[in-house]
Amino acid sequence: MQTKISEKFTTLFGCSGDFFASAGRINLIGEQTDYNGGFVFPGAIDKGIMAEIKLNGTNKVCAYSLDLDEYVEFGLAEEDAPSQSWSRYIFGVCREIIKRGGEISGFNTVFAGDVPLGAGMSSSAALESTFAFALNHLFNLGIDKFELARIGQSTEHNYCGVKCGIMDQFASVFGKKGQLMRLDCKTMEYKYYPFHPEGYRLVLLDSVVKHELASSAYNKRRESCERAAAAIRERHPEVEFLRDANREWLDEVKDSISEEDYMRAEYVIDEVARVLDVCDALERDDYETVGEKMYETHYGMSRLYEVSCEELDFLNNIARECGVTGSRVMGGGFGGCTINLVKNELYVPFIEKAKAAFTQRFGHEPKVYDVVISDGARKL
Ligand code: GLA
Repeated sequence: MQTKISEKFTTLFGCSGDFFASAGRINLIGEQTDYNGGFVFPGAIDKGIMAEIKLNGTNKVCAYSLDLDEYVEFGLAEEDAPSQSWSRYIFGVCREIIKRGGEISGFNTVFAGDVPLGAGMSSSAALESTFAFALNHLFNLGIDKFELARIGQSTEHNYCGVKCGIMDQFASVFGKKGQLMRLDCKTMEYKYYPFHPEGYRLVLLDSVVKHELASSAYNKRRESCERAAAAIRERHPEVEFLRDANREWLDEVKDSISEEDYMRAEYVIDEVARVLDVCDALERDDYETVGEKMYETHYGMSRLYEVSCEELDFLNNIARECGVTGSRVMGGGFGGCTINLVKNELYVPFIEKAKAAFTQRFGHEPKVYDVVISDGARKL
């Protein structure tokens, strides 16, 4: 990938620049909890974005996406926002840096990536983190890593219409080879967990389905959670986020919130607890419990939070039938992947069965990605 980027950069700009990269992510457990102040358990993966960048001494960004074969130029003022969706991520990162007082100017860039788009592995966070990290380095801005992650998150909020939490950008900025991270999204305390499950493998099955309106449905889920938290807060002022509540307090407001908001909150409160259970289980190398919790998450995401779909439920059922230890829909939902914790000896029969049955039912194969936990944002 680096050679192709470099060749294109030389052709377009007649010089060479510095290389930066960042990663997509997986999440073992803790889904839809980040914007509820809860816990998440992600790690960066060996699929990411790579960019060559050189300052150009103007106030213009000249950006080329190798994968899409598209070239865009834009200025750095708010009214210069480009329309192509990929370039809005880069523009948003520049604007969010400027809003925070960072002095930056124009640059030339060519970038490419191998995070499957729309698969729930956060290709957009990888793109944001690459540029946030690179601009911080090239302009010597001294922005800390948390703020780099927040720059990516604000880019999603303000330039891409997704009111996401901090998990994806955190994972892609803080990710380390071989380590998952437990992040408390309320206090931002985090801990690295070496993850080498002896006798097991983590594998993603990509349904290759991307549902339209996923981002507006995601934003709606977030609003439901905020309404439920606000209702509970009236009785229990210490509740800032749903993470601070419990099932008992939720039941006290059952009649004053909609059935839908109740279901969403029920899922979130249970999911926050599941992450802590998984952490305990990991301390004991108890992967059977980790797996059980993953199935519980899937059930909740499917029936209570309603962000699964037929294809993902199907893949989850096959995992169960094959005796896979844990399986669930990963990420924002509405398509994308299941993440599966599978015993080594079941790996081949599971993948074969999943491919055959899925193809028979939906007319195409799911894609298979072995998870390799890798480094996040870095200079190459
Ligand atoms: C998307 C968002 C994250 C998180 C997950 C669900 O990936 O970007 O902030 O909310 O969905 O856990």
